[in-house]
Amino acid sequence: MSDRTAIHERTLAALGAVSPESVAAQFAEVRARFDAETAALAAGDMAGWTALRNAWLGRASGVLTAIGDNWLKPAAPEQKRVVGKALNELKAHVESRLEELKARAEASADSGAARGGVDLSLPGVRRELGTRHPIRQTLEELERIFLSIGFSVVEGPEIETPYYNFEALNIPEHHPARDTMDTFYLSLPKGAPELLLRTHTSPMQIHTMERQKPPVRIIVPGRVYRRDNPDSTHSFAFHQIEGLAVDTDITFCEFKGTVEYFVRELLGQKTRTRLRPSYFPFTEPSAEVDASCFGCDGAGCRICKQTGWIELFGSGMVDPAVYGFVNYDAKRLSGFAFGMGLERLTMMRYGITDIQMLYQNDVRFLRQFV
Ligand code: PHE
Repeated sequence: MSDRTAIHERTLAALGAVSPESVAAQFAEVRARFDAETAALAAGDMAGWTALRNAWLGRASGVLTAIGDNWLKPAAPEQKRVVGKALNELKAHVESRLEELKARAEASADSGAARGGVDLSLPGVRRELGTRHPIRQTLEELERIFLSIGFSVVEGPEIETPYYNFEALNIPEHHPARDTMDTFYLSLPKGAPELLLRTHTSPMQIHTMERQKPPVRIIVPGRVYRRDNPDSTHSFAFHQIEGLAVDTDITFCEFKGTVEYFVRELLGQKTRTRLRPSYFPFTEPSAEVDASCFGCDGAGCRICKQTGWIELFGSGMVDPAVYGFVNYDAKRLSGFAFGMGLERLTMMRYGITDIQMLYQNDVRFLRQFV
């Protein structure tokens, strides 16, 4: 390196380079040095590349600046052209070679191979696949059962108008049934039509019948909302699955048979089913479906609070008044509907005692349902 320093820091006259040939020879020597230094640079060595660029192209003390100062400026007028041309060629060579090396250095730094200290034989970072959430598992089981008997799955909006959530389901404005379904209303500009978070999946009964002619056989899974304070059995957001079957020949028998088939598929073939009279504004008659307790087979235990029965879901024959809202012929058509809480069924299936555990995403909890 001291040699090179010596050359470019002396004048051409001092080097005895007067003829164009000897000028060319001096430039060739500098260029050979540059080529040797670049050849020694390791592929991913960005720091080495920066040092090289500063040494050659640095404005104040780079080799090319020094050659301009020491060779070109003091050159005799007849030499200037030759020296200037050779300097330009050298500069072009240095610049383009440095660009190439920079691209190479960056590419190999990206690939990581030359980053140094990377041990390719180490095991990679394992990305765990995760498991299906227990609510999802229950949902998929229910879908399997209903798909096997000709139902199809549809989904609908979580934001609804009061019409679909209440009125068209035969729940008029001041009906007491609204009290049990207090919900969240969207804050909207004054005068805008009211919107709310649906309190049940039943609005999809209306949407579906508005959209399609009978026969209808659907289930509707989805999230619903109620203004409930969280505790071990309540959450302001939970999941339901709705069912609706409407056709020209659906009797209470079909309703009961479907319910019994479903309960046996879900809880086991020896499970018995019981219909208890109930009330919903959009079904008539209405029934709560109970199943014989899977813990004691009806004898009475802690799971069923000594009753022998477990309450599963609400249901009933579609109230003819509902057909009036969707232009279905109530004289010709009949059907049944049901709606169940997925959290409830999930907690029952797995013996989960606190609904909040389903929402906390604690892997120690979730791993138990692989
Ligand atoms: N939508 C009712 C609820 O959320 C359940 C239900 C659905 C009852 C369909 C009857 C028929 O409580």
